[in-house]
Amino acid sequence: MRTPLIAGNWKAHTRADTARALCRALRELIDGVDGVEKVVCPPFVYLTTAKSVLDGSAIRLGAQDVHWQDDVAATGEVGPAMLAELVEYVIIGHSERRANFGDTDEVVNRKVKAALGAGLRPIMCVGETLREREADRTEEVLVRQLRGGLKEVDLPDGFVIAYEPVWAIGTGIAATGNQANEAIGLIRREVAAMCGPEKGESVRILYGGSVDPGNIAEFMAQPEVDCALVGGASLNADSFSARARRPWPSNWPAASTARSSGPTRGRCTAAWTSAPRSRRRRSGRRRRTT
Ligand code: 13P
Repeated sequence: MRTPLIAGNWKAHTRADTARALCRALRELIDGVDGVEKVVCPPFVYLTTAKSVLDGSAIRLGAQDVHWQDDVAATGEVGPAMLAELVEYVIIGHSERRANFGDTDEVVNRKVKAALGAGLRPIMCVGETLREREADRTEEVLVRQLRGGLKEVDLPDGFVIAYEPVWAIGTGIAATGNQANEAIGLIRREVAAMCGPEKGESVRILYGGSVDPGNIAEFMAQPEVDCALVGGASLNADSFSARARRPWPSNWPAASTARSSGPTRGRCTAAWTSAPRSRRRRSGRRRRTT
């Protein structure tokens, strides 16, 4: 059974007083909402402020990035062990970091491994640009990002991936429910192929990109979508709360026919190799070591 997760990515917004006020308001509005994991990701400098307000609540704290090493000469960076003292979650591979700060799939992979090693829970972002979608390259891009980002990762159950099509971020043009469901289904199948079928069932995949109170129901009605990563609108306590408080469809999550898989871990490779031979042959995947 997958627990839905809604996360707010504040990006480089707020000041100390507004960060504190936003956390206070969220604590008031959504602390008691059951059935969904709630995460806020303020800028690094306001993590302690947010923590002081949210401690003891059910609202979890996340950071927006992490370096892949601790205790190194890396001016301006924040290492995983430091973060693990403060937060539970960390966003990795957001398209803004990929586009503007040189986060390649290899860098994302290092960060994911380091975060997991420090006991953090990554929210690994993937997504295609408009040009890639229009060139019919969405699948190719998502598969490349997943294979790169999850290469040889020992994937814990309930790992979180956010599908954020770049063209939908901050544009007011959200994907349709169908588009999100299709891409997230593809991601789930690829995770199953790379990391094992149980991992495909248990991975939580969020949709992100211009989610608003008017369209979240459409995403949540999709069997593959495990809730949302919200940007701009997470800066408003009422609108973020409106999303978190949505009544979840009674059959939700429809895709979680998940056999209870227990705390298994699966090392992700380019192609999962533990499937029975007949299944491997049928799927047409060739065994590859990476
Ligand atoms: P918007 O919700 O502002 O489109 O941003 C999405 C996002 O980038 C979340 O990480």
